[in-house]
Amino acid sequence: MSRREGNGSTAVGERTEGEEPLVRVQGLRKHFQLRSGWFRRKAETLRAVDGVSFHLDRGETLGLVGESGCGKSTTARAVLRLVEPTAGEIHFDGRDVMAMEPGELRGFRGRAQIVFQDPLSSLNPRMRVGTALAEVLKVHGVASDTAERRQRVRNLLETVELAPELAERHPHELSGGQRQRVGIARALAVDPELLILDEPVSALDVPVRRQILGLVRGLQREFGLTCLFIAHDLSVVEEVSDRVAVMYLGRIVEVAPVSVLFSRPAHPYTRALLAATPRPEPGGWAGPRRPVLEGDVPSSVSPPSGCPFHPRCPHPERDEECRRVVPHLETKGKAWRVACMKAPTSPDARS
Ligand SMILES: Nc1ncnc2c1ncn2[C@@H]1O[C@H](COP(=O)(O)OP(=O)(O)OP(=O)(O)O)[C@@H](O)[C@H]1O
Ligand code: SF4
Ligand SMILES: [Mg+2]
Repeated sequence: MSRREGNGSTAVGERTEGEEPLVRVQGLRKHFQLRSGWFRRKAETLRAVDGVSFHLDRGETLGLVGESGCGKSTTARAVLRLVEPTAGEIHFDGRDVMAMEPGELRGFRGRAQIVFQDPLSSLNPRMRVGTALAEVLKVHGVASDTAERRQRVRNLLETVELAPELAERHPHELSGGQRQRVGIARALAVDPELLILDEPVSALDVPVRRQILGLVRGLQREFGLTCLFIAHDLSVVEEVSDRVAVMYLGRIVEVAPVSVLFSRPAHPYTRALLAATPRPEPGGWAGPRRPVLEGDVPSSVSPPSGCPFHPRCPHPERDEECRRVVPHLETKGKAWRVACMKAPTSPDARS
């Protein structure tokens, strides 16, 4: 089914050292212009994504986490130019995505697919599942005739572990987990190299969530996909990611390999998220040990001065400098970067 199918031996995160990343994003910004007040005369700028940089090595999965509204989905959409970035650089397989003309952009979008946060909104309610998948194959010229398309639809349903009979159903006749699987099947239909999964399990109950995460892990191994996996919940990204980036108010505040982030998080926000994450323990799951944080996420229209996290930061050394100076991501260890002026200076020097 896939040009990468059949190796079957690629471990999650297995990749060649020194290779150019599949995706490189530098200084990405997406600002929305809003109008409010009497006669909508007041113009405001909402900084949904405000200087995000990251890369994705081939075959790896980067988890992207953060509270609601911090800019995760907007980052994903901007990378694919489904919303036009305000500024920044995006390179895919060495090509400058921002400079792509419509034809090249279409080709890029065939190689980079997204599974949207709300699977129902991205499926045509009047179209049967099989017809919707066949449409995608037709539009992208993947299969030459109706018989081949029908066979590929069956293969796709099998890949996402759905019974072939489901091809005859409409989206509203499916369960949440089945819809999410159809969304993944649709993304896989064009044999992408990059798969962005935007909160694929947040609306699902725990058993179905585990099944979908198992499916994603299987797909990573089978097809060697490069993934950006978005979630609210750190425990979800831990299961499927090689590295994790933590976002707060439109910026990445910490990025690290899973083993580092979960054992010695350096940013106070990452620590707070982790403290609120249920963890597996002998005999079951331990519930959140502490609430996430006090106070709401500040407005992206008028973000705080200095460190955007300072109004909520529980770090004992938070001071006047935090109110004045914007911290940038600084290297703390191998593949580990943190945007906090009070973060420990070496991997082992933790407060
Ligand atoms: N088209 C738009 N016009 C104006 N503001 C927008 C638009 N899309 C997103 N925003 C705003 O940008 C900010 C980031 O939104 P985004 O959907 O990226 O957050 P998110 O991290 O994905 O949140 P969630 O976890 O709830 O999905 C929010 O304040 C949101 O209201
Ligand atoms: S820079 Fe200051 S306010 Fe920001 S996270 Fe670090 S200690 Fe907290
Ligand atoms: Mg979102």
